[in-house]
Amino acid sequence: MKVLVTGGCGFLGSHVCEYYIQQGCQVVSYDNMTKHELNRTGFAVDYARDYNWNYLKSIGVEMVKADIRDLEVLLDHSKGCDYIIHTAAQPAMTISWEDPHLDITTNVVGTFNVLECARRHKVPIASCATIHVYGNKINETLKETDKRYVRKPQGISEAHPTLEGILTPLHASKFAGDIYVRTYIDTYKIEAVSFRLTGIYGTRQFGGEDHGWVANFSIRAMTDRPITIFGTGRQVRDIVYATDVCRAFDAFYRTRKSGVYNIGGGTKTAISLLDCIDLLSDIIGKRPEVIFAPDRHGDLRYFVCNIKKAKDNLNWSPEIMPKEGIQRLVNWIDENIEIFKAG
Ligand SMILES: NC(=O)c1ccc[n+]([C@@H]2O[C@H](COP(=O)([O-])OP(=O)(O)OC[C@H]3O[C@@H](n4cnc5c(N)ncnc54)[C@H](O)[C@@H]3O)[C@@H](O)[C@H]2O)c1
Repeated sequence: MKVLVTGGCGFLGSHVCEYYIQQGCQVVSYDNMTKHELNRTGFAVDYARDYNWNYLKSIGVEMVKADIRDLEVLLDHSKGCDYIIHTAAQPAMTISWEDPHLDITTNVVGTFNVLECARRHKVPIASCATIHVYGNKINETLKETDKRYVRKPQGISEAHPTLEGILTPLHASKFAGDIYVRTYIDTYKIEAVSFRLTGIYGTRQFGGEDHGWVANFSIRAMTDRPITIFGTGRQVRDIVYATDVCRAFDAFYRTRKSGVYNIGGGTKTAISLLDCIDLLSDIIGKRPEVIFAPDRHGDLRYFVCNIKKAKDNLNWSPEIMPKEGIQRLVNWIDENIEIFKAG
């Protein structure tokens, strides 16, 4: 089996590549190596860009440095593949409002091109959307306790209204990708899923303030840098470990039940930013300095997935709980601590 992973050198994409190499597949990473938010993390900037590339090459992944916005090149490299997993994206809300052109071309034109490859080559495709497609009107339905926002019912399903609340270019571009997946399923009968992903975390995540908050907190805590929390810290996500998302991609390949799915840890992994600081402090044995700042335009204060549809149709459920997942992330940062310290 040959798998093409767009954005293979990104955080999630690198886990997908590793997962399929471990299954004995031929794997191609297709990535233009332009992770824009890396320029703003303040740590490991140059090193991070090459880290996943070098790692994937060492485990036998075929590397292609190219752009998903270039349809002809993408068509060429996806020929002969059995499965396309589309993780390449402009994933940060902050960058979406600073550079809406980059956002729309990457997330809308890019996703369209990947779908075209799936249609023309007749291969199944899994694409990454986000829980931001539901919008942040959810913020108006919350109560709060000392440590977290709470909501009833806790889990939010795929039937929840979309794009309600204040919109940013990221909302528009990621939702457009999600709609295009559904359009290609209906019109061209391709086998496809759009996974509306919650906060993902894991090793090889060079998280910063723009994207990848669990890794950002962990790296900062372990290198004695202060952590900035935008808002009260009571924001909640049902964080999901990267390899659990890889298992969801594989579950679709095996079941072929097309459609949109919420993919997250569900109520068992729901954690607030403040809870995460507590858990991190326990794991690393020291309490990081925390600075509070106003919340940001478009921020979503709560999301916990109802994952029943993925359980029923794909026979998938997450396995890794936050304590174990954050410990794995912390171990990886510890093994690479010099590069994070160096900046
Ligand atoms: N990480 C999360 O918490 C999270 C949450 C919800 C949804 N998602 C979605 O999951 C997917 C993967 O996210 P991630 O965290 O791994 O992001 P990432 O930024 O780590 O990886 C994205 C990769 O895509 C590549 N890329 C960007 N533009 C490209 C282009 N034009 N052509 C080719 N490659 C390009 C980048 O170089 C990068 O390696 C994205 O669609 C994102 O929106 C992620």
